[in-house]
Amino acid sequence: MRITGSTRLAGIMGWPIAHSRSPALHNFWLDQYGIDGVYVPLAVRPEQLETALRALPALGFRGCNLTIPHKQKALAIVDRVDPVARRIGAVNTVVVASDGRLEAWNTDVYGFRENLRDIVPDWQATAGPAVVLGAGGAARAVIAALAEDGVSEIRLVNRTMARAAEVAHDLAAPRCRITVHPWGEREAALRDAGILVNTTSLGMVGEPGLEIELTELPVSAVVVDIVYVPLETRLLAAARQRGHRVVDGLGMLLHQGRPGFEAWFGIPVRVSDELRTAVLATLAPAGPAMAGAARQQRGSQ
Ligand code: ATR
Repeated sequence: MRITGSTRLAGIMGWPIAHSRSPALHNFWLDQYGIDGVYVPLAVRPEQLETALRALPALGFRGCNLTIPHKQKALAIVDRVDPVARRIGAVNTVVVASDGRLEAWNTDVYGFRENLRDIVPDWQATAGPAVVLGAGGAARAVIAALAEDGVSEIRLVNRTMARAAEVAHDLAAPRCRITVHPWGEREAALRDAGILVNTTSLGMVGEPGLEIELTELPVSAVVVDIVYVPLETRLLAAARQRGHRVVDGLGMLLHQGRPGFEAWFGIPVRVSDELRTAVLATLAPAGPAMAGAARQQRGSQ
């Protein structure tokens, strides 16, 4: 790769940033499409986020991704926030507009939806209620995507009920009923469901496993785990064994990168098997060393 005066610049801000797979993702596309651009990891301390974001236009950056711990705080800094991102309460993609203003989106919604379409194209939103485990930022993006897709009932199951209630309130949509359920009722919530999505951190390397008996879940239901380290979680292995179609978390990570890439570098990109293999190769072997990166092992960066 040769960097010249005309090389387009983008990157990802996080603290820490070393474990992010986004540089591997975007630089793969830059190489594949022969674009004169580069995507760099930017280690930005929380207290420097505003300074760093405001410097993007001055430095000639087209924009950046944001990861932990910046996704919420950036909302208050940028100039324009996409309405869905505002309801989710987090942004992960910043684009420097032609007037130098900072626009921010949440592309996890797009990433979740596109990955689902990619892996299970015949899944229908009308297949039955959706069960979402977890009520963090990732759950918010998943719920927004399912509601946009036309799912009419979402059963939101979380350990902390107050947090689930807040999510249900913030993401209320006209044609989608969101009901909240205590963690102890996660198995009963599976009855008649058309899709189950784990958005909790349970099952990631370094975290406890997700304990859930799938007996009540119809075999026609799709099972999604947004965890991607490991790629095949215990949930997915158990679901596969029961005959469910399963979707892992890596595809969500890959697809969520597409809108940003297109905005910064001007070319629409695809998620291919080669890309999957290239990004998979960057995943460190499972082990205690990964524990520090624990929160960056799910499809929402
Ligand atoms: P993010 O914002 O990245 O999605 P998060 O806010 O840390 O991540 O959310 C993690 C989710 O995993 C939460 O829903 C959390 O439940 P609480 O809201 O009750 O904290 C869930 N989670 C983490 N550890 C859990 C555990 N041991 N049992 C059940 N749920 C757990």
